[in-house]
Amino acid sequence: MERSFIMIKPDGVQRNLVGEIIRRFETKGFTLVGLKLMAVPRELAEKHYDVHKDRPFFSGLVEFITSSPVIAMVWEGEGVVTSARKIIGATNPLSAELGTIRGDYGVSVGRNLIHGSDAIETAQREIKLWFSEEELTSWEPSI
Ligand code: CMP
Repeated sequence: MERSFIMIKPDGVQRNLVGEIIRRFETKGFTLVGLKLMAVPRELAEKHYDVHKDRPFFSGLVEFITSSPVIAMVWEGEGVVTSARKIIGATNPLSAELGTIRGDYGVSVGRNLIHGSDAIETAQREIKLWFSEEELTSWEPSI
């Protein structure tokens, strides 16, 4: 079954949006298979954002992600990678549609509340980076 890596960034945690963000994925119908609150080691942040290492915002981004705790999650379901990106909205919250998480709650590209994997292959890489196998639980709702 398809999985996506979703991270509520320090701004999302500090603004008490954790419950609201999780609610959006739950009510859409996706299944939570991994979740942890964690302080992000610098090395992990640098690996996670490796693709942006030559961009001018890279060091600020790593600084920010390591500045206070994040919520790392893995969500499962058919089409979850693409659907999560729709639920999250465009990278720049000012361009994100209302009704998306960034569109409803954000105003700054550097403080855009949440990260979601941009493709199935990226999701596989990111999930491996952030979670061990034992931290993930596959389960099926029975009600
Ligand atoms: P995210 O989806 O986590 O992936 C890369 C992140 O880089 C992105 O969200 C933004 O938080 C950040 N980012 C992208 N463009 C900029 C920018 N111009 N200035 C600061 N941060 C940026």
